Amino acid sequence: MKFFIDTANLDQIKEAQDLGILNGVTTNPSLMAKEGITGKANIINHYKTICDIVEGDVSAEVIATDMEGMIREGEELAALHDQIVIKLPMIRDGIKACSYFSKKGVKTNVTLVFSPGQAILAAKAGATYVSPFIGRLDDVSTDGLNLIAEIRSIYDNYNFKTQILAASIRHTMHIIDCAKIGADVMTGPLNSIMGLLKHPLTDIGLEKFLADYAKGNQ
Ligand code: E4P
Repeated sequence: MKFFIDTANLDQIKEAQDLGILNGVTTNPSLMAKEGITGKANIINHYKTICDIVEGDVSAEVIATDMEGMIREGEELAALHDQIVIKLPMIRDGIKACSYFSKKGVKTNVTLVFSPGQAILAAKAGATYVSPFIGRLDDVSTDGLNLIAEIRSIYDNYNFKTQILAASIRHTMHIIDCAKIGADVMTGPLNSIMGLLKHPLTDIGLEKFLADYAKGNQ
């Protein structure tokens, strides 16, 4: 399972990168705005900085909603760095743009996916990644993890190569459950990743080992 961090915060990206377990980064316009990154030039520079910090794929989302605009923007973003993945919204023109980029061998991430039907279209359009939003489904009393399971089963039926990128992860258990289902990738906030580290018995055990060592080595 690949681990992406879902943020535009450079300190958090560096912290995850330093753990040695990071495979990429996802961003979106809201995450950029949260870090105060505004204006095309600043946004482009920020993507370049992120690509310098991490080794893997970095999703950069287009703002246009028409196919021509998405292609124009996507080509500009793809030219920034070979780690850039063009993030396209799951709308009619997004699927057209995805098909266009797939034929050109440019990596894509179809985002804002909330149903198995949308995931089928993304795969048919040759998306590199499909991003089902688990947390936002949970927010409206719909089982987000069930969507991951449905997409896994459909993709396996047809050997679709599109990777399932579980997005809108809110906590550590989402990551573990996605791993059980077989999501190819998860993207989550730093605290959801760090939560995987924690177990009280580890802390108690380590404390005892160190205390016993200290007793015998005074
Ligand atoms: C990532 O690609 C998505 O944009 C992100 O996971 C959405 O997360 P949210 O629902 O917490 O905003």
